[in-house]
Amino acid sequence: MKGIILAGGSGSRLAPSTDGINKHLLQVYDKPMIYYPLSVLMLGGIKEIMIISTPEETPRFRELLGDGSELGITLQYKDQREPKGIPQALTISEDFIGKDKVALMLADNIFYGQGFTTLLRNAIKNHSHATVFGYRVKDPERFGVVEFDHKQKVISLEEKPDEPRSDFAVTGLYLYDHRAVNIAKKLKPSDRGELEITDLNKEYLKWGQLDVELLGRGFAWMDAGTHESLFEASEFVKITQRQGFKIACLEEIAYYLGYISRDQLYERGKTMEKNDYGQYLMEIADRPHSQQYWDPDSIDQHPMLGLAGNE
Ligand code: DAU
Repeated sequence: MKGIILAGGSGSRLAPSTDGINKHLLQVYDKPMIYYPLSVLMLGGIKEIMIISTPEETPRFRELLGDGSELGITLQYKDQREPKGIPQALTISEDFIGKDKVALMLADNIFYGQGFTTLLRNAIKNHSHATVFGYRVKDPERFGVVEFDHKQKVISLEEKPDEPRSDFAVTGLYLYDHRAVNIAKKLKPSDRGELEITDLNKEYLKWGQLDVELLGRGFAWMDAGTHESLFEASEFVKITQRQGFKIACLEEIAYYLGYISRDQLYERGKTMEKNDYGQYLMEIADRPHSQQYWDPDSIDQHPMLGLAGNE
């Protein structure tokens, strides 16, 4: 499966903070926002990833993350000339996707929870046509909303409805087969002038090929699209990291997934040795094997990556 991270848009809801910088490069507590979606795709086992942003900002993402080799993955970059809607990410990536399946992720979405990686890996393994991830919220009218029956069969989908039919928001992580590209090509702009990802998902629903995975009580999902939610996301990360484990630490994930060596991890930490992030990497690399909190034979047991370990 390939991965796409959509990190464009105008960021107007976060002005003036976004007047000089792309929203997804803003900091969520101790790292840039883009680290969080990238960590999700990496934890899902996806190694080929396309990052899409505006023509002005794509070079900055490239500067930050390079070609991915330092993380043992492959990163490519493409421009979205105008923010015409989320499905455009699929048409822009047509050649990249080819005949593969694809995970599309919005760069302002943050997921966290013990067992998340296992849930995601299982969803990827069992995925056939289209899968969305539902999360119960108090304000469903702000999101795409999914309604489903007692067998978790999807009944309806609506984008930001005035009267939501359920409390379950559709999060910004979507799994598709390669047909999504052609569906995206045929979409027409909605009343607000955008191509809607909900309209694309509705096509799969029409064919009875849309699955929903539910993220239950133990999970956190945030979209850091407003000043308030960005601030809350930073607070959340700070509190979660009180155990001394970082979340969305890309180098740590790459190390535990076996993509980079202990020496590479240490060297990377050394480039930031004056700050907490660099020291954290060096400390992991320095730990004796018995204290790595990791059973190399079973990545799914890793307690630091939010995996199933002791559930
Ligand atoms: O976060 C989940 C929600 O994301 C879903 O529940 C909705 O169904 C979906 O439409 C979307 O709603 P938003 O109102 O949050 O979409 P927004 O326009 O804020 O865009 C989401 C992210 O995608 C944001 O980080 C900017 C980026 N984006 C958006 C558009 C429309 C682009 O890079 N290019 C675009 O053309």
